[in-house]
Amino acid sequence: MSIHIDDALQAYKRCFDSTPTIAARAPGRVNIIGEHTDYNDGFVLPMAIEHDTLILGVPRQDQVLNMRAETLGRSARLRADVPARSAQEPWTDYVSGVIAELQKLGYPVSGADLLIVGDVPVGCGLSSSAALEMAVLAFFEKAGGFQMQGPDAARLGQRVENDFLGLSTGIMDQFISRCGRLGHALFLDCRSYDYTLVPVAFKDALFVIANTACPRGLTASKYNERVSECTAAVEALKHAKDKGNKLRDYTLADLEGVRHAMDPLHFRRARHVITENARTLDAKAAMESGGLEQLGTLMTASDISLKEDYEVTSPELDVLTAIARSLPGCYGARMTGAGFGGCTINLVAKNAAESFSAQLLEGYKKETGRTGEVYISAPADGAGAFFLS
Ligand code: GLA
Repeated sequence: MSIHIDDALQAYKRCFDSTPTIAARAPGRVNIIGEHTDYNDGFVLPMAIEHDTLILGVPRQDQVLNMRAETLGRSARLRADVPARSAQEPWTDYVSGVIAELQKLGYPVSGADLLIVGDVPVGCGLSSSAALEMAVLAFFEKAGGFQMQGPDAARLGQRVENDFLGLSTGIMDQFISRCGRLGHALFLDCRSYDYTLVPVAFKDALFVIANTACPRGLTASKYNERVSECTAAVEALKHAKDKGNKLRDYTLADLEGVRHAMDPLHFRRARHVITENARTLDAKAAMESGGLEQLGTLMTASDISLKEDYEVTSPELDVLTAIARSLPGCYGARMTGAGFGGCTINLVAKNAAESFSAQLLEGYKKETGRTGEVYISAPADGAGAFFLS
């Protein structure tokens, strides 16, 4: 990551005039495939990236929380015993949300002086919020002398989003931020939380992430709308033949069988989820056997389904993926994350990655007038914390 611990230590000294005793970090993530499947109990295949949220801190004897978000240039003072949302400093909601959930579970949480820095690009589909939640959790685990199991930690982060912030998001982002492993992607069954680490070991290819660098509009409300549309699709399927409460429980044949009795929009939403689950299983197999062409083809098919059936791409995302696919060395390109803006992920031949990145940014600028960004990241480790002294 590009955060220098010495700079962070100095910033801490400047803010609190003391030396931190605990450092905690958690990474952002990029999803290789399996989009909008997690809240349907389906499959996902993300990897943690080499961009982190880092927290330096000292636990306090009282319940005061002094916080400095160095990257945002903001400070706030709250109380740990009454965790509440803040309209003025919404970034503190992730800290308060984690504390509220820990308290519900009966874990000890004290006040703390915290400095938060990070280099996960914010608001562009690389899960800066999950990284913050998982870093905060790792800090309080270390401070309180307890450690949660990975899936339980991820579930806690999901409850922060669902219950504290009112977003109906799934488990993927927190799970990979906590459980990711160096050199590996993580295949997760979002129903059972069983997971397999899948080596990212292509000799000749790597993942290039491209950022549209354009603000995402109304993501939260459109995201929640997709969740409701999936629930409505399940209702129609259940009405014909009850096989379960989630799209995970139904096949394409089941869906075709009720097509005539379904809202065509709900049909398309369900078709995306059902086919995306199948693509994610195939992509895991392709990664395990080194099938670059196959993985690239699946990524592109995923994107087309997200654009046409799920309707979560944006004009800028579509420009990026179209240019990417026209460039030499590109095996496949798709939007990644919730969509409605944000980033794409591209599988690219190693020896073409440099020219691919340059031409992609140049083409994007020419067509949209916008300056995008490119990140190349190997799969990183999940969250952790340690004592500094
Ligand atoms: C966001 C959510 C995840 C997942 C993705 C889409 O990142 O936080 O739970 O639903 O969108 O795959």
